[in-house]
Amino acid sequence: MIVIKPIKAINTIAIRHEVMWPNKPQAYVVLPNDNEGLHFGLFLNQTLVSVVSLFTEENTLQFRKFATLQAHQGKGYGSQLLTHVFEYANKKHYKKIWCNARKDKTTFYERFGLKETSETFVKGGITYVIMTRNF
Ligand SMILES: CC(C)(COP(=O)(O)OP(=O)(O)OC[C@H]1O[C@@H](n2cnc3c(N)ncnc32)[C@H](O)[C@@H]1OP(=O)(O)O)[C@@H](O)C(=O)NCCC(=O)NCCS
Repeated sequence: MIVIKPIKAINTIAIRHEVMWPNKPQAYVVLPNDNEGLHFGLFLNQTLVSVVSLFTEENTLQFRKFATLQAHQGKGYGSQLLTHVFEYANKKHYKKIWCNARKDKTTFYERFGLKETSETFVKGGITYVIMTRNF
């Protein structure tokens, strides 16, 4: 059974670390404003397998640190979680949603109506592009 619900910031850390930056110390995946964020988790039979973190700035919502445990990737869980995020953004009347997308994930995000901007940067050897969607 799949359940998506809000989780505490602290409960995102293990998945963020294991999936995104396993070779860095765990502190590397802690965001300074994590306690101001809204964090959603997707549970498969009560096991947390996918996480995403939302941060608000006026009418704009940024999602960050989106990660699915490797063994559970490619099964649609990330898409379900992101769909939940977009439904949330719509319900809360946000005007815009955006993320710093890893360049290899842009096609994935385009399916959700996000479009690449011309703003790109490199961090930790990974190229990112800012992607946005207006509501
Ligand atoms: C990005 C990430 C969170 C996506 O999570 P996921 O659970 O694998 O997502 P999904 O399974 O919904 O989609 C992944 C792919 O599987 C495909 N897929 C496979 N089976 C699927 C199914 N049953 N239903 C839907 N999609 C399915 C999707 O179309 C998608 O294809 P694509 O990669 O070619 O775009 C995950 O790949 C991840 O954690 N990556 C490492 C960290 C990272 O890069 N985070 C994002 C930073 S921008």
